[in-house]
Amino acid sequence: MDEALKTNVLYFGDNLEILRNRDYFPNECIDLIYLDPPFNSKKDYNILFKENGGVESEAQIKAFTDTWHWTQTAENTYHDIVINGPLKIGKLIGALHDTIGCNDVMAYLVMMTARLIELHRVLKPTGSLYLHCDPTASHYLKLVLDQIFGANNFRNEIIWRYRRWPAKQKAFQRMHDVILCYIKARGGPHRWNQLYEELSPSSIRQWKGKLRVDVTSEEGTRHSEIGEKVSPGVPMSDVWEISQITAPYKEYLGYETQKPLALLERIIKASSNEGDTVLDPFCGCGTAVVAAQKLNRRWIGIDITHVAVALMRNRLKDSFNIDAEVIGEPVDLAGAKALAYQDRYQFQWWALSLIRARPLGEKKKGADKGIDGVIHFIDEVSGTPKRVVVQVKSGHVGVNAIRELKAVAANNAIGVLITLESPTGPMRVEAVDAGFYHSPIWNKDYSKIQIFTIEDLLKGKTVDMPPQTQTSVTFAKAPKISKKEGKQLLMD
Ligand SMILES: C[S@@+](CC[C@H](N)C(=O)[O-])C[C@H]1O[C@@H](n2cnc3c(N)ncnc32)[C@H](O)[C@@H]1O
Repeated sequence: MDEALKTNVLYFGDNLEILRNRDYFPNECIDLIYLDPPFNSKKDYNILFKENGGVESEAQIKAFTDTWHWTQTAENTYHDIVINGPLKIGKLIGALHDTIGCNDVMAYLVMMTARLIELHRVLKPTGSLYLHCDPTASHYLKLVLDQIFGANNFRNEIIWRYRRWPAKQKAFQRMHDVILCYIKARGGPHRWNQLYEELSPSSIRQWKGKLRVDVTSEEGTRHSEIGEKVSPGVPMSDVWEISQITAPYKEYLGYETQKPLALLERIIKASSNEGDTVLDPFCGCGTAVVAAQKLNRRWIGIDITHVAVALMRNRLKDSFNIDAEVIGEPVDLAGAKALAYQDRYQFQWWALSLIRARPLGEKKKGADKGIDGVIHFIDEVSGTPKRVVVQVKSGHVGVNAIRELKAVAANNAIGVLITLESPTGPMRVEAVDAGFYHSPIWNKDYSKIQIFTIEDLLKGKTVDMPPQTQTSVTFAKAPKISKKEGKQLLMD
């Protein structure tokens, strides 16, 4: 393994900046890359949590939408590729720019090209890259990948077919994604473990004392005699039928674009071995990371939102009892101040993640105005969820902040204020004056209004509230993955 490479780690930030940092990613250090960028569709694919009851909450987080529109950043990246990038890639991007124009599609292609150039650099000569996209973008991306990896190194266009409710459209139902697979293939054979289609029990029958397998081919069903041993099956094709992950699947964490573990396990098993390093630079709620851990591979995940990073961290803790290190998140007050200065919303989401609160997003309605996040718990025999409501303040705070919080907490169990600045004496008095929330189940009183500074939370202080049960947690809990299923990879 590359000594300079840090593995089993999450990065918070823009993957382009992180990938370009050669202290983090030296040349040819990664065995397998899977990337699932937000597609070039009209929908914002970043963060859409489903509220209880399936209604989309307003947690639309705009942190990276810029990446996919023709902005100054896209223009600068375009110039950088054309002027400084490899000649043939610059030529292709220049030609596409002339043909497509300066629009969202071109912005997407330019941003993807810059990242794919870096990903190609960090991939080992024996490595493979799987790019997950949809039919609105796959044809453009294939042109780009052919230039970066070489058309000879194209291996597969995998069709991931899933079922979902039919949409109202005057076209055939669109029910597949595309995963483009390329190998780096410089100076040696690439990793490849043959996978086989699972045989249904009905297709294996005893026949004249020997086992026979029915294999359905395009021409119809043909039979093959295979002797005493059961064959591993037929080599797997490039059309994969795997269910999408939605509620009420146990695996579903409420992350809109969550991919099935089964899909990632297939990719990782085919194109890496135990101990290899898997990188997902757009890792969302961390499906690739979890699949890698489960299969005893090393992993690196990158995401640009704190919500995704927090979800991933919780998922690794819940599934494997791993406390993942996150690079790029504040670790002290100075770092927290820098984040607040740089981006108020990212600061807010990060602060909420410290107490495992779920962000409510920007477009809140009615009584939820003024609430930045919530923690759910169940405290009644009836099972009705109760809420801890959270406000985060990165600027100056005074007694009015507590009065405001008291108002929004009135119809909720507990109100929490997270603040960068230390609270004033009158704020503390006003908070104490709010009294207590009484828990009927635990028969215990909890302070109605609680104030935490960022420093308190970094030191490990937590909200004083009734315990969360398995069914009442704020984020869906990832199922535990047993030691046998995914024995933890020894770090060295
Ligand atoms: C389609 S989702 C990935 C979902 C993931 N495969 C899963 O199973 O959860 C895309 C992710 O890319 C992240 N993202 C978008 N732009 C990014 C960037 N420039 N750098 C790092 N992450 C980014 C988003 O925050 C989002 O979580």
